[in-house]
Amino acid sequence: MDLFKVYKLWDIEPVRGLDTTLWDKNGVEYTDLYGGHAVISVGHCHPHYVKAVTEQLGKLGFYSNAVQNSLQKELARKLGKACGYDDYSLFLCNSGAEANENAMKLASFHTGRARILAFGHAFHGRTSGAVAATDNPKIQSPFNSTANVSFAPLNDIAEVEKELHSKEYAAVIIEGIQGVAGIYEPDDGFLLSLREICDKTGTMLILDEIQSGYGRTGLFFAHQHAGIRADIITTAKGMGNGFPIGGVLVSPAIKPSYGMLGTTFGGNHLACAAAIAVLEIIESEHLIENAAETGEFFRQNLCPDGHPIHPLKEYRGRGLMIGLEVMEGYGDLRNRLLFEKHFFTGAAGPAVIRLLPSLTVSKETAARFINALKDLSA
Ligand SMILES: Cc1ncc(COP(=O)(O)O)c(C=O)c1O
Repeated sequence: MDLFKVYKLWDIEPVRGLDTTLWDKNGVEYTDLYGGHAVISVGHCHPHYVKAVTEQLGKLGFYSNAVQNSLQKELARKLGKACGYDDYSLFLCNSGAEANENAMKLASFHTGRARILAFGHAFHGRTSGAVAATDNPKIQSPFNSTANVSFAPLNDIAEVEKELHSKEYAAVIIEGIQGVAGIYEPDDGFLLSLREICDKTGTMLILDEIQSGYGRTGLFFAHQHAGIRADIITTAKGMGNGFPIGGVLVSPAIKPSYGMLGTTFGGNHLACAAAIAVLEIIESEHLIENAAETGEFFRQNLCPDGHPIHPLKEYRGRGLMIGLEVMEGYGDLRNRLLFEKHFFTGAAGPAVIRLLPSLTVSKETAARFINALKDLSA
């Protein structure tokens, strides 16, 4: 059997990693400033993480959600404390799309309403509901009904108000920072007004922090920069540092009932051990502070005094969620960074390079990247 080919692949096979370094099968070294789509939050093969996961595997890797599991409770307690939502409760699942799927379902159960308002260029995943709330018809099949979804332009509060006025919407779903679209932020003022309109109309506010969360922007969740609280927050990616796990943080106003949500694998012992280790590392190594500081270092060097250096057209993002829009004629810069300078980065179309490194990334590594970029565009 061959693989079902849905991915465009680089001709590189990493076989070993340590912190922000990867080695391919020929022993060639690369610097990873992408973390496999923002997943590697505490670095590849962090010793505390490896120990926690392997020890748990030797004790009990899995049992179902039909039994007590104190690792889930420990994870909920630690996550609540880390992100400041300790009065919320946690539903554990396996991926980002699944977290969003459950979040929208919860909002619909709670309000008794069916509609979802999402934003232009949003990406929320590829399962049926999540892809319907994703602004990309190319990845929606006829089965993924979009009948209950509307889209408003990001930062257009008048449009949001017009839609929510009908009181037909169960929820508004919004990314903390739009990642796949190319790193676009909702304005703080927009988020404050959105919160108010949701309160006025009884609409749940779902913050998709799957890419922007886990400390990447210098606070645990990106929406916390605006000082608002969400009703439901979804998380995945950095949560398990590569071990698949997702979570839905649920406001105490939303009451659970048996059978409302469910999953076979979600919250299994191994996944919880991985996620607990990630939170322990984030706390003990002050990685959120490092994300803020190293992010600032990237900004100051790539966009001194608000002016992007050649060949950048625009610098976007916060902390370690960075979008570098390149000038016309530099569409091959990402390839050259990879093949000539051995830096893994991400993209959003040909014009935007995305940096989503591990929160452990050092200023020295950032400086090497900045020099490589300058070198290639000299
Ligand atoms: C903001 C956002 N939401 C949801 C998802 C979907 O997550 P997953 O691929 O784990 O299903 C992604 C993945 O890129 C994302 O960036």
